[in-house]
Formats: sequence, C-alpha cells, structure tokens
Amino acid sequence: MKNELVIVLDFGGQYNQLVARRVRECNVYCEIYSYKTDIDKIKAMNPKGIILTGGPNSCYEADSPTYTKELFELGVPVLGLCYGAQLMMHVLGGEVKSAPVREYGKTEVLVDKKSSLIFENVSSPTICWMSHFDYISQTAPGFEISAHTADCPVAAAEDEARNLYAIQFHPEVLHTVEGTKMINNFVKNVCRCAGDWRMDSFVENSIRAIREKVGNGKVLCALSGGVDSSVAAVMLSKAIGNQLTCVFVDHGLLRKNEGDEVEAVFGPKGAYDLNFIRVNAQERFYEKLTGVSEPENKRKIIGEEFIRVFEEEAKKIGAVDFLVQGTIYPDVVESGLGGESAVIKSHHNVGGLPDYVDFKEIIEPLRDLFKDEVRKAGLEMGLPEKLVFRQPFPGPGLGIRIIGEVTAEKVKIVQDADAIYREEMDAAGMNKTVGQYFAALTNMRSVGVMGDERTYDYAVALRAVNTIDFMTAEAAEVPYAVLNKVMSRIINEVKGVNRVMYDLTSKPPGTIEME
Ligand code: XMP
Repeated sequence: MKNELVIVLDFGGQYNQLVARRVRECNVYCEIYSYKTDIDKIKAMNPKGIILTGGPNSCYEADSPTYTKELFELGVPVLGLCYGAQLMMHVLGGEVKSAPVREYGKTEVLVDKKSSLIFENVSSPTICWMSHFDYISQTAPGFEISAHTADCPVAAAEDEARNLYAIQFHPEVLHTVEGTKMINNFVKNVCRCAGDWRMDSFVENSIRAIREKVGNGKVLCALSGGVDSSVAAVMLSKAIGNQLTCVFVDHGLLRKNEGDEVEAVFGPKGAYDLNFIRVNAQERFYEKLTGVSEPENKRKIIGEEFIRVFEEEAKKIGAVDFLVQGTIYPDVVESGLGGESAVIKSHHNVGGLPDYVDFKEIIEPLRDLFKDEVRKAGLEMGLPEKLVFRQPFPGPGLGIRIIGEVTAEKVKIVQDADAIYREEMDAAGMNKTVGQYFAALTNMRSVGVMGDERTYDYAVALRAVNTIDFMTAEAAEVPYAVLNKVMSRIINEVKGVNRVMYDLTSKPPGTIEME
C-alpha cells in the first residue's frame, strides 16, 4: 500500500499539508516529516521523491533550518519549493540574497526551458503564487534556470542529470493555476511514480489489516455522528462486524433530529453489522450546565460529563481489547508527530491515551488520511452523502451556540431556528458554496410586538462563514431574500424568538462559533 512513497520535508511553511495533499491527488502516497528527521530514517523509507517545503526563515542565517548536503546525493529526486528551493541552492553552492523587491501574490511566470520535465504541458506565461523576500541570485553549479518573472531571475531552476528541481513559487496553492500539473509532472515524470494510491485499495487494505490485528478481540468506539468517527465505525464494522460496539452519547446538544439520524444509520435498523448503544443523557448534561455561563467552563463540563457517561457504558461492556479513535492526518501533523509547524500545537486526539476505559490498544484507522480522503473513504463504503458531507460541528455542540446559561428551553429554540436556517440555505443551493452556517441563540431578550401583544423574547443570530483552514474566516454573502425568508419563518414558527440578526463579523476579530 505504501510502497510508492514521496516524503515532504517540512521547513515550517504554512502550506506543508497542502503539498502532501496535492501529491496524494496525483494518486501517490505522501507523508510529512520535520526537517530535523535523520537522513538514515529517510533512506530507510526508500522514498521515490522528496519535496522540501517553504518556511519563514532566511537560509543564509546561522541558525536557520537546514539539511545535510547528502540529501541531494542519495539519487532520489528532490523538489525544493520557496525556502526549500533557496536552501537547495545555498547548500549546493549557489547564492541566496535578500531581494530588492519583495514578490507577493499572483505573478506571471515565464517558462524558459520548454523541455523541462516539470513544465510539461504548462503554458508560458503561467500565473503562479509568489511569497518571498529572499531570492536566488546565483544558481548552484550544474543548475540551469528554467523559469523567471519580471522581478525574479530564478523562478525555477533544475539539474536534470541529478534530478534536482527548485521552484521559487508555490505550486501547491490553488492560485498557481497550473500548480497541480507541475506537482504531477514531478511525481510522474521525475520520480517515475506509477500513481497507484487509490481510495478503494486503501479501504480494502485497511479492512484486511484491521481484521488481522483484531483477531477475535472486542473493539469499542465512541461514535459522535461526525464524519471521522462515522467513517472509522463503518470501516471497523466491515472488518469485524459485531465484535465492534459503538457507544453514541446523545448529550442533548445536538442539532434537531441528529440523534435519530445517527441511530437510523448505525442502529439496529441501519445497514451495518455492529452493536449500537445510544445513551440518552440529555437531562444529565442540562443539570450539570445549570447556572454555568462562562464558555470555557461549559466546554470543560460537557467534555468531562461526556467521558463519565462513556466510562459508565464501557464498564457495563467490560474489558475490551481495542479502543477506536478517529484521529486523522492533520491531527497527527499538528501534534508535531509528522511535520514541523506543529510542535507548537497539541491535539487531544493524538498521544494522550484515555485512562478511563479498560483496553489494551488503540486503533486509528484514519490516521493516514486528510479530511477529503476520509470523505472519499466514507462514500466508497456506502455511507450516506448527508453524513459524509456534514458541516463541522463542535464537540460541545449547541452548548457553545447558546450564549450564557444552557437550558432545555433554549436548546429547543436554537434547534428549531437552526433547522429552518439550514433548510432554507439548502433550498437556495447555499450548502454548495458556504463553508459552515448555523443559528445561535444570543442571550439577549428585547421587547417586540406580535399581533396585538407585547413580547419579551430572544434574538437569534444567523452565522455563515467561508473559510479554508478555520483559522481565518469571512462572513458569507447570503442573498437578502434568503435571509428575509429565514427571518420570517423563524419568527413565525419558533416560539420565544422575536428578532433575527445576521452576524457580519469575520475571524479575526470574531471566532466562527460565538463562544
Ligand atoms: P472557532 O469558533 O474557534 O471555530 O473560530 C473554528 C472551528 O472549530 C470548531 N470549534 C470546535 N470544535 N470543540 C470542537 O470540537 C470546540 O470546543 C470547538 N470550538 C470551535 C468550530 O465549529 C469551527 O469549525
């Protein structure tokens, strides 16, 4: 499965995961490692190619990330991108300097070497994404310049004989119009990869591997109904059938009808062979949340209570051999176990093993996949599209979409308002274009009038954002007619609401959720 591997060496650039994703889009398996990874470890993996990412440093400064010259002498094709390109030149005897003109944004690149394996079928000029303050002022011996821009004499260079390629721009970002083609050219033309990494074979191989690993063992999975845990559960169920038990905790903070939808797919009337336990713990959660209004406190209480409920169910089941976690590749990378950027972040899904369940080992069937690949695997195994393309939904659920204290009454209001909003957005086709949208309940009550009566009711806030990485986001432009219809339906159909507002705030300064 992994016999054709391309390695991405991460020098701290913000696009490192994108590079790996683009390689996988060419049906070549790819993993990210820190630039601190030892050369012997890299040799042992026997990669077909190595890609050096961008990074924020200047390669000529003393303590900047670097790599031993030996990397370029392994006989393995190397592609350096941005910082990676500069580093390649620097290490091999070229020259990198601070540029008189900083290049940033979409830039016209002129291809000088039409026969370059990297630029096969790429037009000239071609639009590429530049972001650099240093530039290659002199290529290393043996290299020829293969592309330039108005401000950058070396937009790309190569030493075809040694299979070394340097690209100053970022082919991995979508603004580089023919970037995927260039990466495909590198992995196919230069690395000679066949490109046989396919989702159907991944699924098949994983199922076989799980079967072998589990044997006759018992497996426990916490199912949230989100994409990752659902895909993991289906994969396990296909591998080992009812040796798998899924515990689904309904904390009463799910979207309208969501608990029943999860039960319809995974429960006894669903299509899968597994033991499904639904715990209706709504009252317990509402009780714990009584009087609590501080957002972080709410998160903590919901998280802890979730563990308590799961623990109680696990005790009833008794000792199990394996516990399933829906860890996906970005979790691994962001925890510093893969690439470089991550050493800064920690992630609850990786590394920390839960001590509240009696189990021997963790199974993480999606550990190697990006989110879009998890979705592909889900579709491959026949999961309903509605579930596979579900929007991100926070673990604490509606608990953080109700500002202030959570009560059963407020949950009902926000569930009903949210269901109307989603229905109308779907009907208007906005589900295809907007990243994440939901209704939240502000803690504000105000005076209104309905019929002849004075009301004193809640204001619902509608949120819709477009985001690529969830680190930044912009409020989506939802047509006024759609908003107006949602407003009128919420006011008419949801008791307890007399105002509807649209949140225009971007992130930053706002966050996507309101708490
Ligand atoms: P924010 O609100 O931080 O959200 O801009 C970014 C993304 O993360 C989700 N989110 C959470 N997910 N537990 C989660 O599992 C949380 O406490 C949480 N808070 C925010 C949010 O829905 C958005 O997609």
